[in-house]
Amino acid sequence: MTTKILAFSGALRKASTNTALVRAAKQLAPEGVEIEIYDGIGQLPFFDQDLEGDVPAAVAEFRAKIAAADGVLIASPEYNYSIPGVLKNALDWASRPYGESVLTGKPVAVMGASGSGFGTVRAQNHLRDVFHWLDAKVVTKPEVHVGNNWERFDNEGNLVDETSRNLVAGLIAALVVQIEETQKVKANA
Ligand SMILES: Cc1cc2nc3c(=O)[nH]c(=O)nc-3n(C[C@H](O)[C@H](O)[C@H](O)COP(=O)(O)O)c2cc1C
Repeated sequence: MTTKILAFSGALRKASTNTALVRAAKQLAPEGVEIEIYDGIGQLPFFDQDLEGDVPAAVAEFRAKIAAADGVLIASPEYNYSIPGVLKNALDWASRPYGESVLTGKPVAVMGASGSGFGTVRAQNHLRDVFHWLDAKVVTKPEVHVGNNWERFDNEGNLVDETSRNLVAGLIAALVVQIEETQKVKANA
């Protein structure tokens, strides 16, 4: 059976190294693992609790994609030491309605690329906090901090740094383990 992972980037710009990281993950996925790239977070409206009763179609589609996936993989930049607003907005939509979030119990892995040497470590910690509250099953290791991003990708946006490629592959493997464990627990419940 194929393991289905939904992956998205926390950046909207075309030449984003985080979007490139998501593309690299798709290429590095082992046999039996399918990574679908979702590129719609920029089309989601600002979260508005008044819309919760009848959510916009883009929100419903985003939630359905998460619900249908066995796991979620996110690559995000760090903006001002934290999560980009566009990504937090998407997660806020996915977190509702309260008690019925599609992220509850969902295996999740996070990674990130930055221009600094820290490789989004602070944004990833903030993301882990969000997922902790949402009772998502966040993979802890390996930590994928792609620092000094300008030297890790070629001009076409391919991840060429071998250490980073191995870390991304390792993170996918860890996410698959988390997915299998989660499915086992569900089957025995
Ligand atoms: C609004 C903004 C805030 C940023 N804040 C940080 C930061 O806190 N830490 C950091 O390491 N880099 C920061 N950067 C630089 C990013 O690491 C760099 O622009 C990176 O390439 C963004 O990811 P992307 O290539 O996926 O767009 C910031 C960039 C922007 C545009």
